[in-house]
Amino acid sequence: MATVQVHASKNYQIHIENGLLDRIGSLSAELLQCRNVALVTDETVDVLYADRVEKSLLAAGFAVHKLVLPAGEETKCLARFGEVLEFFAECRLTRTDAAFALGGGVIGDLTGFACAVYLRGIRYVQIPTTLLAAVDSSVGGKTAIDLQAGKNLAGAFHQPAAVFCDPETLQTLPCETFSDGCAEVIKYAVLDGEPLVSLLADRANADWCNIIYECVKIKKRMVEEDEFDTGVRMFLNLGHTVGHAIEKNSYFAITHGKAVAIGMVIAARLSEKLGLCDASLTESLTELLHAYGLPTESPYAMEDLIAGMLSDKKRKGNTLHLILPQKMGKCTIYETDVEVLHRLFE
Ligand code: NAD
Ligand code: GLY
Repeated sequence: MATVQVHASKNYQIHIENGLLDRIGSLSAELLQCRNVALVTDETVDVLYADRVEKSLLAAGFAVHKLVLPAGEETKCLARFGEVLEFFAECRLTRTDAAFALGGGVIGDLTGFACAVYLRGIRYVQIPTTLLAAVDSSVGGKTAIDLQAGKNLAGAFHQPAAVFCDPETLQTLPCETFSDGCAEVIKYAVLDGEPLVSLLADRANADWCNIIYECVKIKKRMVEEDEFDTGVRMFLNLGHTVGHAIEKNSYFAITHGKAVAIGMVIAARLSEKLGLCDASLTESLTELLHAYGLPTESPYAMEDLIAGMLSDKKRKGNTLHLILPQKMGKCTIYETDVEVLHRLFE
């Protein structure tokens, strides 16, 4: 089993191993030392994996209360957040009890946020079942729900008690959802270089346990250095500022991963224009994204994307902070204002 130790405001371990779902009970018993636990999942993941997790928890002596929510981003809303809190209360979870979030980033973010506020904070365990959740959302303690005004507008930093990742669960992901996660994996390769770049070179023989392990180690370093997202964690936004603008322009018909893929290529082109990288970087990034089924061309004009970037919640005044790649393994934060951006993209 590969294990990564995170040292943040709370210390916890991330375990990665094929078949791990059946061992979650025994691994959690000593860690949590409680009896009552909630298992929160979505309808798709429930059918595929909840029985195995529940059996494992029951065998370890836990009393399990399962809540199954609809699948999809719409579930990350205020109404479902209330439903999870009411469920915890109905199950009489106490401050020493805990919840398990079994699913993708939606279930992880929603359950994590509910655990951050229920009784002013109870413990939760992340069991990511999408590639995005495995390499990104399950690690680092960002929890949130969406509001009418936008995504992730209400949330809290609340680190999990543990993360149990079983890469075998990724085999049932729809191709598109898997590709979306690949965009985040490739983002880590651009940020950190080797060994991820080599691990990704031969897609047909990719070792996903190892790839997830390397991604999580990178995220762990950033979270340890900048748990509350005021510094280096900003590098994780590579491709995201433009990506969010692409998602918005498409009314979310273009998925997050695809938008981030295109956003990374635009960031590389901008970096080229500024003399910060060679054209060969854009070429190899484009090739890598294509190998993982991801697009690299924006269907929208830069003018429209700039308008979208201006409504980004991370924007400060007229200033934008873009993460620009310089070579595989090296990126820089480029502070620019809208006028400069317009000129650069003319
Ligand atoms: P998701 O949770 O909606 O999962 C995508 C789809 O895959 C869902 O329909 C789900 O039912 C299905 N699914 C999940 N596991 C499956 C499996 N093993 N087999 C078959 N189907 C499966 O989406 P996601 O991409 O995992 O996460 C996106 C969310 O994560 C967004 O809300 C985003 O804001 C959030 N996010 C959070 C962080 C963070 O740091 N907290 C980071 C990145 C993204
Ligand atoms: N997904 C971005 C972060 O965790 O900071």
